[in-house]
Amino acid sequence: MNVLVAKNALDAERIAYTIIKERLAGKNAFVLGLATGSTPVGMYKMFKQDALDCRHVTSVNLDEYIGLGADHPQSYHHFMKERLFDEVPFKEHFLPQGDAPDAEKEAERYEQLVRSLGVDLQLLGIGENGHIAFNEPGTALDAKTHVTELTASTREANRRFFNELSDVPTHAITMGLDTIMNAREIVLVATGTRKAEAVHHMIEREPTVEWPATILQAHPSVTIVLDVEAASRCDDARQARGREAADRFFSIRTNA
Ligand code: GLP
Repeated sequence: MNVLVAKNALDAERIAYTIIKERLAGKNAFVLGLATGSTPVGMYKMFKQDALDCRHVTSVNLDEYIGLGADHPQSYHHFMKERLFDEVPFKEHFLPQGDAPDAEKEAERYEQLVRSLGVDLQLLGIGENGHIAFNEPGTALDAKTHVTELTASTREANRRFFNELSDVPTHAITMGLDTIMNAREIVLVATGTRKAEAVHHMIEREPTVEWPATILQAHPSVTIVLDVEAASRCDDARQARGREAADRFFSIRTNA
């Protein structure tokens, strides 16, 4: 696990964006795993400002709410279209179909699709309870793409995108932990103090299903990009910050 701590959220986003940009450069074809939520929004702006050439890139998103069609304003389909796809042409893009008549079958279909494409780089955020995609605490480590019930805390955290809590869907289709771990490379971005506890578990504590992101410690090629707030509960970050505060970012020691 390579962990970089930037001075602020914008620098963290720039670092993660630069990694993605470098990986896409000079490739004829690339499969990029994308995420939703607030965290990647700044990076998607950078794709647009830079007019990053993604015509050779196939994207696969992590998850989608069950019950929301692609045109629903709070669907992840709509989010991706508005934040990225409308302005940056990709070769193809895929998300699970939230309004499929049979969600279990749709999860199986999506798993096959992701496996057959093979993800070169997966971008991730992290939930306050340590979830990645919608793999909530307690999810089996070998989970494939599946239907999941969202926890009360995740629905509460995502409520800001909806009018009312009761509008937040109760279930989602999500890539599983095993699906995500199959990506060749992973870049996870976390910013803000809200994420500090989950980040501390992810990089400094023993792997446990109670904090799903801890599984990333077992992946051979992971970069975690944080701002100082998200790193604020990490023991080594507190020490490193004093030592190297003049640099744009610094690395910290981890379990893995
Ligand atoms: C949702 C998404 C995750 C995302 C998480 C954090 O639950 N399914 O993929 O990482 O929210 O979101 P945010 O970046 O808004 O904090």
